[in-house]
Amino acid sequence: MIERARQLDAGDPLTQFRDRFDVPEGVIYLDGNSLGCLPIATPARLEQVVREEWGRDLIRSWNSAGWIDLPTRVGAKIAPLIGAKAHEVIVADSVSVNLFKLMSAALAMRPGRKVILSEPGNFPTDIYMIEGLEGQGLAERRLAERDKLLEALDEDAALLVLTHAHYKTGELFDMAELTRAAHDAGALVLWDLSHSGGALPVDLNGCNADFAVGCGYKYLNGGPGAPAYAFVAERHIENSNQPLSGWMGHAKPFAFSDDYTPAPGIERLLCGTPGILGVAALEVGVELIAEIGVEQLYAKSQKLSEFFRQCLTERGLELDLVSPSEPSARGSQLSFRHPEAYAICQALIARGVIGDFRDPDILRFGFAPAYLRFEDMAEAARHLAEVLESGEWQRDEFRERAAVT
Ligand SMILES: Cc1ncc(COP(=O)(O)O)c(C=O)c1O
Repeated sequence: MIERARQLDAGDPLTQFRDRFDVPEGVIYLDGNSLGCLPIATPARLEQVVREEWGRDLIRSWNSAGWIDLPTRVGAKIAPLIGAKAHEVIVADSVSVNLFKLMSAALAMRPGRKVILSEPGNFPTDIYMIEGLEGQGLAERRLAERDKLLEALDEDAALLVLTHAHYKTGELFDMAELTRAAHDAGALVLWDLSHSGGALPVDLNGCNADFAVGCGYKYLNGGPGAPAYAFVAERHIENSNQPLSGWMGHAKPFAFSDDYTPAPGIERLLCGTPGILGVAALEVGVELIAEIGVEQLYAKSQKLSEFFRQCLTERGLELDLVSPSEPSARGSQLSFRHPEAYAICQALIARGVIGDFRDPDILRFGFAPAYLRFEDMAEAARHLAEVLESGEWQRDEFRERAAVT
């Protein structure tokens, strides 16, 4: 298998990009879907922002270094990765906060309707943020299984909120079909692209989507807690009134008026002062992913995950795959169900194979193709086989739960 893997690496047009990331020696990193690797260029860029822009130029950098435009500048660079126009995307806050802003804006655009529809088992924050609005009497939470979503879209539905690539299984929704169905029912749609943006081609405008949010610290390699991004379709921007009416979303923040007037453009999604260090680091990751190209990345990730499955099969491992077996029906990950998933995951991490565990029994492997090799797939499969065959996962140290899993 290792020979075949090396041949595949030799013919892979993306191999050169591995050197643009700081992948630690001895680590096979299968968790880029949770926290992407550090781009080599990021420390130097941060050093420049800290020492020159902040240290030397101080407050002048809001103008001279263009800090004030950074959220829209980086948003515009994310836009082509998700099928959006440059002025429809902005970098701000976290996914959770952006969900709140956009859900509120959508509710206000559908007077007389209060239901926000999602699926059980969606990423928790998406559901919790609906609950937050419900607690304020502004929304009514409704959850329907995937195959019941269409019938749950009735005349009370204001908004459909779904995660395009499911965080546990990687299963993809048909964005075009669900967006159409929601619109037919008179509802709007908000897509969470946290596991799609930068990993696979997304066509928000081609699908006529209304709103979207996405994560900066996963496939965009923006660093831990990197700011998120938000998309509002051009046709909705002037009617999108979000309730976190902070001064940075004002049409003229530096007029210091007593009255709030939202910015005419996507800047109205800002609330407080953007964290410049975070946005600057995100910009480096976004530029690198844009340079490689999402089509190429997705094509490689499908090959990597299929090769990983072949390696498992050749080693006689029959694991319970919970991701779709058809590569085009899933994002850049494979998840397996195993009653001892937690301990197996820890035993693998001890060997330098970093995947992750999702409660209660999911072993999840992400294939961030910008820095992974086919050789890593063969080696990860070998480690997994050895961990299972040796029973090494049964050691006490691997069964003790850490605070962050
Ligand atoms: C689908 C999805 N949405 C939202 C989030 C959380 O985003 P944030 O921490 O930026 O609020 C995650 C984090 O893993 C996620 O997977």
